[in-house]
Amino acid sequence: MSGKPTRTLVTSALPYANGPIHIGHIAGAYLPADLYVRYLRARKRDVVWVCGSDEHGAAITLRARKEGTTPRAIVDRYHEEMQEAFSSLDIAFDHYDRTSSAEHHAFAQQFFLELLEKGAFTEETRQQFFDPVEQQFLADRYIQGTCPKCEYDKAFGDQCEKCGSALSPEDLVHPVSTLSGATPEMRETTLWYLPMDRHEDWLRKYLEEGKLDGEQHHDAKAWKAHVIGQCKSWVDGGLQSRAMTRDLDWGVPVPVEGAEGKVLYVWLDAPLGYITATQNWARKAGADWEPYWKDEGTQLVHFIGKDNIVFHCIIFPILLKEHGGYLLPHNVPANEFMNLQGDKISTSRNWAVWAKEYIDDFPGRSDEMRYVLASIMPEQKDAEFTWEDFQSRVNNELADVLGNFVNRVFVLTGKFHGGKVPGASGDWTEVDQALLDLMASTPDAVGDAMERYRFRDALQHAMGLVRAGNKYLTEEEPWKVVKTHPGRAADILHLALQVTANAAIVLAPFLPRTAARLGSALGTAELPWDAAGGALVAEGQPLGELPILFEKITDEQVEEQKGKLGAGLEGMRDVEQEKPQTTFDDFQAMDLRVAEVIAAEKVKGADKLLQLTVRTGYDERTVVSGIAEHFSPDDVVGRKVTLLANLAPRKIRGVVSQGMVLMATTEDGGLRFVAPEDGAEPGDIIR
Ligand code: MF3
Ligand code: ZN
Repeated sequence: MSGKPTRTLVTSALPYANGPIHIGHIAGAYLPADLYVRYLRARKRDVVWVCGSDEHGAAITLRARKEGTTPRAIVDRYHEEMQEAFSSLDIAFDHYDRTSSAEHHAFAQQFFLELLEKGAFTEETRQQFFDPVEQQFLADRYIQGTCPKCEYDKAFGDQCEKCGSALSPEDLVHPVSTLSGATPEMRETTLWYLPMDRHEDWLRKYLEEGKLDGEQHHDAKAWKAHVIGQCKSWVDGGLQSRAMTRDLDWGVPVPVEGAEGKVLYVWLDAPLGYITATQNWARKAGADWEPYWKDEGTQLVHFIGKDNIVFHCIIFPILLKEHGGYLLPHNVPANEFMNLQGDKISTSRNWAVWAKEYIDDFPGRSDEMRYVLASIMPEQKDAEFTWEDFQSRVNNELADVLGNFVNRVFVLTGKFHGGKVPGASGDWTEVDQALLDLMASTPDAVGDAMERYRFRDALQHAMGLVRAGNKYLTEEEPWKVVKTHPGRAADILHLALQVTANAAIVLAPFLPRTAARLGSALGTAELPWDAAGGALVAEGQPLGELPILFEKITDEQVEEQKGKLGAGLEGMRDVEQEKPQTTFDDFQAMDLRVAEVIAAEKVKGADKLLQLTVRTGYDERTVVSGIAEHFSPDDVVGRKVTLLANLAPRKIRGVVSQGMVLMATTEDGGLRFVAPEDGAEPGDIIR
């Protein structure tokens, strides 16, 4: 349970291959994992980190539909794009895979069959929501409604992204189809369910006490409170059966005879992607994958965002345990959400900082973004990124503290010691000793925080050493001391150089590029973590050229970046879902004409209705229109309007209406006539 594991397998949530990667993704599941893995590697631990694209599920098919293309085209495009985005911020997985591969399909199918054989599923015929317009079953993101837990009105059929609750379509209040906007009907279908209630007892022990099969499995107190809290409330609410298959054509086909047209639930197939990714990594690396998933000495750590908690802490563990032979997670250090400049990050509103765009605008400056995201990482609660804060952290911390400190050390060493590391007398003052002590304790302070997934704290400890070094230099003033006590000045610079080398080590996970530059400027090919805490650069060692480490971020850059938020989509609003596609023939079936209102009166006893007499150019007729709350009879007489002329006559409040006058509904709920341009005359045909 404690002590060093033999091995660590790190996973980051497989991102849906349905859109570009933004800083919210990075800060949630990728940067923390990258920091953790870089740290473990520096400690020479056996660690493998896998990730990949999640290419199934409604997230993909809905995107394809929106872009008018195929799911295959969507995943191929974003699978490439996402990898570029990750590498632009030096997010360095050992292996990045994808779930649409033949290997993954085969593995997921086999795993499903093994579970089926073990009796993990029940086959049930139940009523499911069905879209009468689209003729398809609705689950997951195909259905939306109000969350029964938090009342968020855009909760999906499998999950509320606001409060993180895992849902079933039946849980939604006012369900509607996201495909057609239609109210769903119920239809019968046969699916395989995972009866999760069977697992409540051991899950409770596993989550609350860290016990599994009567033995201590992990330290439950090491899990984040919000992770345990979410799981507990879910288990306390009683676990229900959850369908593990779907009636869809995009996904991993259910490998059972007679199950044509059914695929595995994406949350069954995707986490298994961690296993196939490990297998493919092993093949590539000439290693054995099995110890990483099966050996007791391995710790499995899932990095995810909070919307994925129940899937990783409850559903996937149930599947793994039912199957047997696989390790369960040692920890799931989920992060909360990152907001942006006062609002939620939103892909559709382009309210996001895209990883690739950031690097295009700030080439080579991935460390700066990593630093800021690590500083404000939403570890225990939601956090907010603003460009002003980015600027102030880069300028005041990276440039003015780290950059300034290192630069002064190098310049002074060049000036007074010909660019070679001066020797030290060993006569340390009290002030020196305090800095030496801090230097000695920093690696463990950083390491402890890293091991506890407290990356913000870890970074503060690492920067604490730099701050202390900077202050030391400012207060000890070697540039003055050198005139009277050159030996003392040499001691000061010697120590400052050791601090620089130590800082390069402890900052390396956060600032890999800066650390590498410092290492080569210090003339040390390697700065091993195990040597940190003491002297690292030897007397007489020649220093190399120190590049400028950090440029300041200007006010103009801040403004420019802020200007990009929401841009390109100016004036975009939250509107109703577009209706499903129609045909040209259907459109042609409507007879639209220009008409003129020649008389109008209120319909007695109906507040909303006006009875209009319109001239069509070939007749005069009566149309009842629901506009009386917006227009008086006087407002409308003399107007040219668009008339749907061949709408079947309807009797409304005793008046027969022969057609419909088209109106635009405005954002604030107002109405405007859809009026033809001047010069159009009654009888003109609209097509
Ligand atoms: N694609 C999911 C998301 O973006 C995460 C899947 S994680 C995995 O929310 F475990 F299923 F792989
Ligand atoms: Zn909710």
